[in-house]
Amino acid sequence: MPMKHLFATLALAAATAQAAEPVKINIQADQPGPVIARQIYGQFGEHLGAGIYEGLWVGTDSKIPNVRGWRTDVVTALKALKVPVLRWPGGCFADEYHWRDGIGPQAQRPPRVNTSWGGVIEPNSVGTHEFMDLADQLGTEVYINANLGSGTVAEMAQWLEYLTAEGDTALARERRANGRDKPWRIQYWGIGNESWGCGGHMKPSYYADQYKQWATFAKAPRGNRPKLVASGGQELELHWTETLSAEIKDRMAAITHHQYSLPTRDWKKKGSAVNFPESEWISTLAVPQTIDGYLAKHREILDRNDPAKKVAIYFDEWGSWYDPEPGTDPGFLVQRNTLRDAVLSALHFHVFHRHADRVKMANIAQMVNVLQAVVITDKERMVLTPTYHAFAMHLPFMDATSLPVQLSGVPDYTLGKYSIPALSASAAKAADGKLILSLSNTNPNQPLPLQLAVGGKGVRAVSGQLLTAATMDAQNWYDAPDRVKPQPFKAEAKGGVLALNVPAKSVLVLEVQP
Ligand code: AHR
Repeated sequence: MPMKHLFATLALAAATAQAAEPVKINIQADQPGPVIARQIYGQFGEHLGAGIYEGLWVGTDSKIPNVRGWRTDVVTALKALKVPVLRWPGGCFADEYHWRDGIGPQAQRPPRVNTSWGGVIEPNSVGTHEFMDLADQLGTEVYINANLGSGTVAEMAQWLEYLTAEGDTALARERRANGRDKPWRIQYWGIGNESWGCGGHMKPSYYADQYKQWATFAKAPRGNRPKLVASGGQELELHWTETLSAEIKDRMAAITHHQYSLPTRDWKKKGSAVNFPESEWISTLAVPQTIDGYLAKHREILDRNDPAKKVAIYFDEWGSWYDPEPGTDPGFLVQRNTLRDAVLSALHFHVFHRHADRVKMANIAQMVNVLQAVVITDKERMVLTPTYHAFAMHLPFMDATSLPVQLSGVPDYTLGKYSIPALSASAAKAADGKLILSLSNTNPNQPLPLQLAVGGKGVRAVSGQLLTAATMDAQNWYDAPDRVKPQPFKAEAKGGVLALNVPAKSVLVLEVQP
């Protein structure tokens, strides 16, 4: 056999190797872990490409049905996800955003250049009042990221006062004159974004000093003080976590962390969103496992510097990042969304659940039309992506109590230099008391037989939803919006044993009836 065929055969054999024995899962329902903060299912919307303008904001004169400028179809779809928290206005854009550009009559607002994303004109039609209206329509908490990179302390302090002032101050009067009488409630206040990079290329020690000064002046009335959030590092940048947790732990609620999933790990050629080889399926799905390891290392530092666990990790940017969709502006970060993204989401959720005692928020990048979006739009048309369905299926995990899961006999799914467990699982007791289980079979070629128990005892039945598709890169598009859509799934015990097959390349969320 020619060498190249031999290697191909070996690779295929490795990729499809599975244990014949069923995987055994035991949910330890009597050992409750931490609550899974619903904010782990948070969203991020930046002034970037069609993420805000077109995708969400169409303006009041648009023929596209809207409520005060926000398109009704997209808002309705997002409401079904019960978005717990929305981060805005960036991202890199946050560090060039000046809030005064976005208040007052829209026609008089100054157009600026969005230097972070495509160099396009930022009309400032969406500003503070519009964003807070969107948050109100969605019923979500708000996480505003203030401009540390190119703004001033006074500017930030005045923005927060404008938002929250109760009395008869000049800024409260200005807010009222612009149409809002009562102060808004602001839950989270970020000071800078990626300050190691687009937010100012700072060293952690310099940032820590800056943060302390800014946090000192981030004042709001008692009872309406947002949690202050420090901009942390990415990936394995432990020195950011080390410095921030040592220097400013008493002044922050959380340190942010970012990590994107690039199939190739190469920012110059990240890999295609569709028509990708299996080697890029597995390399992408291997990222959450890496995140799991990195988080463990960041936690070690936090556990040393903050044993009382007062400082959380907010994973406020995560998701796939592929080469831009051909024919689009590369600065708009447009990419297709496939079954791979849905599985990637489930694997991230499982990691966040595992670290739920420290990870108190996570925000997918981004909500609409940008990177791993949950919704995509084209003029008046809208499509819900596979990622949207992964979020919808996991709604019962919001505010659920995590439960340990014992797994035995899980085979590895191996291809080339990557090897990941073929099954990822996470269980919890939902807020309504139901026992819930999320499973993902990462192997695109083999279903996985499985037997389920709770507290070592057999269970009666499971029912829920299955998300899979014919191909790894199956996507929802305007001509086939339901190609990747959850299907009902159920199984019952026979002879006291609940056995089921988790289909290849799938996400399964089940209610378990012990
Ligand atoms: O989500 C896109 C960009 O990625 C954000 O603006 C930035 O924070 C990160 O580098």
